[in-house]
Amino acid sequence: MSARLRFEFSSSPIDAARLVLMHADTGFLHAASPAQEAFIAKACEAAEFIGKTGSFMALYTDEGPVLVGGIGSGLFAGMAAENWGGKLFAQMKAAPFSQLQVDAAVFADDVLMSVMGGAYAASYHFIHYFTKPEKPALEASLTITTDRTDDLSDEWMARKPLYDGVFTARDLVFEPANILYPVEFAKRCQALENTGLEIEVLDEAALEKIGMGALLGVGQGSVRDSAVVIMKWMGGGDEAPIALVGKGVCFDTGGISIKPAKGMEDMKWDMGGAAGVTGAMHALAGRKVKQNVIGIIGLVENMPDGNAQRPGDVVTTLSGQTVEVINTDAEGRLVLADVLTYLQDRFKPKAIVDMATLTGAILVSLGKEHAGLFSNDDTLSEAVMQAGREVEETSWRMPMGKAYDNMLKSHIADMKNIGGPYGGSITAACFLERFIENDTPWVHLDIAGKAWSDKDRPTVPKGGTGYGVRLLNQLVDNWQNPK
Ligand code: BES
Ligand code: MN
Ligand code: ZN
Repeated sequence: MSARLRFEFSSSPIDAARLVLMHADTGFLHAASPAQEAFIAKACEAAEFIGKTGSFMALYTDEGPVLVGGIGSGLFAGMAAENWGGKLFAQMKAAPFSQLQVDAAVFADDVLMSVMGGAYAASYHFIHYFTKPEKPALEASLTITTDRTDDLSDEWMARKPLYDGVFTARDLVFEPANILYPVEFAKRCQALENTGLEIEVLDEAALEKIGMGALLGVGQGSVRDSAVVIMKWMGGGDEAPIALVGKGVCFDTGGISIKPAKGMEDMKWDMGGAAGVTGAMHALAGRKVKQNVIGIIGLVENMPDGNAQRPGDVVTTLSGQTVEVINTDAEGRLVLADVLTYLQDRFKPKAIVDMATLTGAILVSLGKEHAGLFSNDDTLSEAVMQAGREVEETSWRMPMGKAYDNMLKSHIADMKNIGGPYGGSITAACFLERFIENDTPWVHLDIAGKAWSDKDRPTVPKGGTGYGVRLLNQLVDNWQNPK
């Protein structure tokens, strides 16, 4: 977990550059003194700086350096404020301003928290494997000047676990597969016990005993043991839990149906669904939500070796249904099938949301803008899409149905693990639906286009995005406080 930004709360101004806001319509400036205000106004005019939202300008005044930040028509909130905070951190990095102070009174409290959150999220970097310090290794601090230091510090501490969860997910996604193999992933989950989560690890021997033939078939070509991790947060009394399920393929070579070399390194993040679920559980526990939530992830490595599963093999899933494995690269659904069965038999969840980097085809359908959403339930679908819109982790609903499901017919087993050449994301979802019992409300999010980003966004640096942590956190929140 590497944030480059620290926050301090001070009841009096400190000796550091000052963040001053400028309203685009009124030209209102929040400066230290009328003299400074006049100076800034003049400088802004000369530079044609009009206070567009998210624009910044550094200035040196008699009363010390200032960073003028445009807030457009003002009073933004939520994600707009977070994105503004993200841009603020980018400015601090570029200028650089390693120390900045801002008067808390210029923001409403919730806006301030969002600005801080956005800046904090933007300050994430993954540097474990550099042996020399990064070029300008900016470690920055933002001091909030306020006469309510305790209140605001408490508010931030209540908000911060959300970002801790996001950082947990990003860390897991960034880690290379020689470091983060299934058992190591499970250990990282166990390290979250200090948040109050209850963590249970099913090792390979346990999985064999239980009968997870589909999951174990995927892992059998790897020297790394497979594992399933159950993360429990029981903040909600006797209620049936909400279940979050993640695909954790720590590396996906494709197995015997091996993938081309080009770009295969990306398959270290084929555990992005499991990372998102783990990060969400971290956030929910840190925030002590009053809900019962089960996180469960299937961890395997998909490798080709002398013991690997062959195309054409038939495996028996935990549900008892048999699968003809036509393509060993369609492995995520095999892992999820057994995890879904185990989850439902043991915990009887009231709703299930699974997240998986399941198909390249979802990138063909939706590009990198939305996750693909598949579901048997309109209400849960809408709730997931709504939560996603609120935190800018959007998804787009895709069709399902019998005609697609029929493509999974096998001549020698209950089903094949792939459909035809088209609609690959949909047939993958239909495969999963065969493991949903009693019409339990279920959403599947195909996040193959979302787990990793090649470009920086205001609060999401390029690389592992932590997609899904905020979405799932918001979903659980909305469940508790329906809008
Ligand atoms: N992990 C991949 C899907 C993927 C592709 C994730 C690109 C992220 C980026 C998945 O296991 C896979 O290999 N799917 C196959 C399915 C096919 C064999 C039916 C695919 O998408 O090609
Ligand atoms: Mn695959
Ligand atoms: Zn995969």
